[in-house]
Amino acid sequence: MIFSFGKKKADTAGQVDFSHLPRHIAIILDGNGRWAKRRGLPRTAGHKVGAETFRTIATYCRDIGIDYLTVYAFSTENWKRPQEEVDTIMALLKRYLLEAIETMERDNVRLRFMGDMTPLSGELKALVDRCNAISERLTGCLCSICINYGGRAELVHAASRFAEDCRVGLVKPDDLTEDMLAGYLYSAGIPDPDLLIRPGGELRLSNFLLWQCAYSEFYTTDVLWPEFTKEELHRAIASYQRRSRRYGGLREGTT
Ligand code: IPE
Ligand code: IPE
Ligand code: MG
Repeated sequence: MIFSFGKKKADTAGQVDFSHLPRHIAIILDGNGRWAKRRGLPRTAGHKVGAETFRTIATYCRDIGIDYLTVYAFSTENWKRPQEEVDTIMALLKRYLLEAIETMERDNVRLRFMGDMTPLSGELKALVDRCNAISERLTGCLCSICINYGGRAELVHAASRFAEDCRVGLVKPDDLTEDMLAGYLYSAGIPDPDLLIRPGGELRLSNFLLWQCAYSEFYTTDVLWPEFTKEELHRAIASYQRRSRRYGGLREGTT
């Protein structure tokens, strides 16, 4: 099934083959602050609209049959932001969690939180635990929201858990394989992202999924996250579908 959302007939950029969708899409939710500044609004207004965009895109990913969506919402480095901005993001997270707890079962979207939740308030941690527990019972699209997440911190956390398992004799250092290390990451059990989307125009990973994105296809756009639309998602997926994924080998049929 091919859908086109381009305005002109000749524009094939947004043509998506819905029978060969990426299984796992990861998105760096960037550009909220610039979106607000361009409108003469405080940066926090961008985060509010960005949260709505997330709702729209996550529901749409579920509708079209994406199995896994992983979004970067707050990094281990984002604590450097002004306190007022951090407080607003945490307040939005609380609102989102409360709504999600009410609607998750009906919507059949599994929400999971990835990252070090230790510095979050007791109230937020309890809500995160409730959300994670509800998700265990559901079967729909698994949406992982990365909060206080850093790719390096995740690897340190994994290494430390592995070292502890060695200390208590569960495993031996020589047993370590790539698959075993992946099993110690927050993302254990989730396939690596096929497509990584970064709105906001920056051409960097900013410490997101350093291990998991080893062979992900990268799509960037100058569109800022609050104005990201389903059509932009189609453009990203269509671009992904035109790629040749070789994993270090040769294109199929090449000798
Ligand atoms: C992303 O938007 C949201 C977070 C990092 C919390 P930004 O706040 O980084 O927006 P820009 O990049 O400054 O426009
Ligand atoms: C990455 O965006 C983190 C999130 C979107 C949560 P940043 O705005 O923090 O990244 P840099 O500072 O531009 O690298
Ligand atoms: Mg940014």
